[in-house]
Amino acid sequence: MKVIIRDNAKEGSLWAAHYIAAKINEKAAQTSAPFVLGLCTGSTPIDTYAELIRMVKAGEVSFKNVISFNMDEYVGLPVEHPESYHSFMHRYLFDHIDEPAENIHILNGNATDTTAECEAYEKAIEAAGGFDLFLGGVGEDGHIAFNEPFSSLSSRTRVITLTQDTREVNARFFGGNPEAVPAQALTVGVATVLSSKEVVILAFGSKKARALKDAIEGPMSHYCTLSGLQNHPAGTIVCDEASIGEVKVNSYRYFKAVEAAENR
Ligand code: GLP
Repeated sequence: MKVIIRDNAKEGSLWAAHYIAAKINEKAAQTSAPFVLGLCTGSTPIDTYAELIRMVKAGEVSFKNVISFNMDEYVGLPVEHPESYHSFMHRYLFDHIDEPAENIHILNGNATDTTAECEAYEKAIEAAGGFDLFLGGVGEDGHIAFNEPFSSLSSRTRVITLTQDTREVNARFFGGNPEAVPAQALTVGVATVLSSKEVVILAFGSKKARALKDAIEGPMSHYCTLSGLQNHPAGTIVCDEASIGEVKVNSYRYFKAVEAAENR
């Protein structure tokens, strides 16, 4: 696991956008096969998406040959609801870049047969060639996508019941009322994320400090599903000084030293 530490969220967000764009460009230079990208929602990736939009408009990267799959969606929330992850993604990314509409995949939380929807999603990811890079965030309790604590680290796309904690954290998007947050979601599994060739996780602010401590230094455990990243050959956490603040001083120094050595 690599941990990239930046002074603040803005710098971490820019780092991630430039990294993703470089990976898209690198593959485009080698092959005509599409770049398969996993995407996340939440307040965390917004600045990364803004920089990717700027780069597309400046001709520094193109999403014309990118196929994307979002990680999750609420169950039963109308697609046109402003807080659906469909609305979020169009508002903060898709409406402003050149990714063809047919390349965009988001789980349908209103499917009549949610099990079939989840199975079809896994098949579509496979048919696209599997993920080149998965961009994710992390919940305050260490959940990745909507893989709440005690989700199997070998889980695949499925329906999940949200914890009360998550509904309370996400209530800020629903007028402050946890009861207004849908009780269930469709989510890719931990193993779906970890099947990607590369995983990049964004985590900014002191609210994410416990999650990062557990994920980086704790045992690999279903208690903190991001900890599954410990078993991935190419996992990177991009964080800021606040979110890395709970790890041991020696861990912090090690991550800083590795980055300095590799950039020399
Ligand atoms: C939700 C999403 C996660 C996201 C998390 C953190 O639970 N399902 O994918 O990582 O929120 O959100 P934020 O970035 O707003 O802190």
